[in-house]
Amino acid sequence: MSPPQSPPTSERSSVSDSTDARTPSALDLGAFPAGFSWGTATSAYQIEGAVAEDGRGPSIWDTFSHTPGAIDNGDHGDVACDHYHRWPEDVALMRGLGVDAYRLSIAWPRVLPTGDGALNAPGLDFYDRLVDGLLDAGITPSVTLYHWDLPQALQDRGGWAERETAEHFGRYAEIVGARLGDRVTQWATLNEPLCSAWIGHLEGRMAPGLTDLTAAVRASYHLLLGHGLAAQALRAAAPAAQVGIVTNHSTVTPASTRPEDIAAAGRMDGHTNRWWLDPVYGRGFPADLRELYGVELPERPGDLATIATPLDWHGVNYYFPVTVADDPAGPVPYAREVRLPDVPRTGMDWQIDGGGLEALLMRLTDDYGARRLYVTENGSAFPDRVGPDGTVDDPERTAYLEEHVAACARALRKGAPLAGYYAWSLLDNFEWAYGYDKRFGLVHVDYATQRRTVKGSGLRYADIIRAHRGLTA
Ligand code: FCB
Repeated sequence: MSPPQSPPTSERSSVSDSTDARTPSALDLGAFPAGFSWGTATSAYQIEGAVAEDGRGPSIWDTFSHTPGAIDNGDHGDVACDHYHRWPEDVALMRGLGVDAYRLSIAWPRVLPTGDGALNAPGLDFYDRLVDGLLDAGITPSVTLYHWDLPQALQDRGGWAERETAEHFGRYAEIVGARLGDRVTQWATLNEPLCSAWIGHLEGRMAPGLTDLTAAVRASYHLLLGHGLAAQALRAAAPAAQVGIVTNHSTVTPASTRPEDIAAAGRMDGHTNRWWLDPVYGRGFPADLRELYGVELPERPGDLATIATPLDWHGVNYYFPVTVADDPAGPVPYAREVRLPDVPRTGMDWQIDGGGLEALLMRLTDDYGARRLYVTENGSAFPDRVGPDGTVDDPERTAYLEEHVAACARALRKGAPLAGYYAWSLLDNFEWAYGYDKRFGLVHVDYATQRRTVKGSGLRYADIIRAHRGLTA
């Protein structure tokens, strides 16, 4: 294990260097209020490893990642960043960066190996120790209950396509809230239910790997119902809980002024954005999309009110905008993504556009009346290398970070109630179907040795945080 690296302020990355174009004023750090929370984010399956340790049960991601051909390079999360054993080093890294907060997720199958049934005490003990370690380091934990790792035993009974999964999720929330709620106040129910439902059940590129529209629509419904049930269970078990949901969004632009492309953009916006926001904000499921999907929702009286349980905060994950054209012969929502030429892109081939983040924050503020917002994930993958001098120079990731921090500043100036920004990710990690090839970390991980090295972007993030504190102290 390499020693924790505390990021020195290098001359190159120092915000106090007034000849540097990237000064605090260029980033408008004055727009960020005192107490703004600067954080990093990860998720359990992507970093923990130790998949068979201390009584953890298998999740759908264990099954999916061991399915031949499902993951690039045959990668899986069996070891990942070995965070289950190295978490003290990772907490020390965050302390070195100077972050205020850390967004982590809890692995449901560590706590309840079969999803319902008996509690696995050692699994919950792990998160208890981690929370204490964070608090000792002065870092506020923000805990997400579900970042895609459904216990396999529940999938075997139908998973999110079945109502009982939402009900079991409520009980799991109650158990975790009762144990950690004396120290954790910042809670999210779900991470990106869009990916669980659409990518996992419709496109088949994520666990559980289905391509079934009916299962996908039913899963979307039960995920949101589970969110509402978990929000209520958390508040009952932990009265100080501040409860939110984390959803991912993209701005959607038509590829041309043709009416067909404009209509396609409307459908894609519904599929990506409105289907997830409208019900949570009490507007019900959008009628145009219900008709488009043609799948009967498994509604019961009272469900819509449960789904619309008022939020204390809303977390937005943003990575890229999309441009779409009509695609009548394609899959739902009959809108095909168009790849724009000559635009900047990350190593994921995702278009880079900070303006999209600003637009989404304003939409949540103005159209949905969000009361408190966080950017719960934002970041970029590039093929980083450790240089001969032992440093990792990643100017493209640094530029992406700055562009999106600047977008947050603009949204704050326009009145968005933005309370925090979490960079994705603290560490390079298991990037789902892409395996370990795609590196999103502010900290580089050498998977052969588990050595961690703070990248240039991590040093820059530490500078931004320090500069903001200096302005508001
Ligand atoms: C988001 C996921 C996160 C990570 C980033 C790159 O969709 O929530 O786990 O994979 O994308």
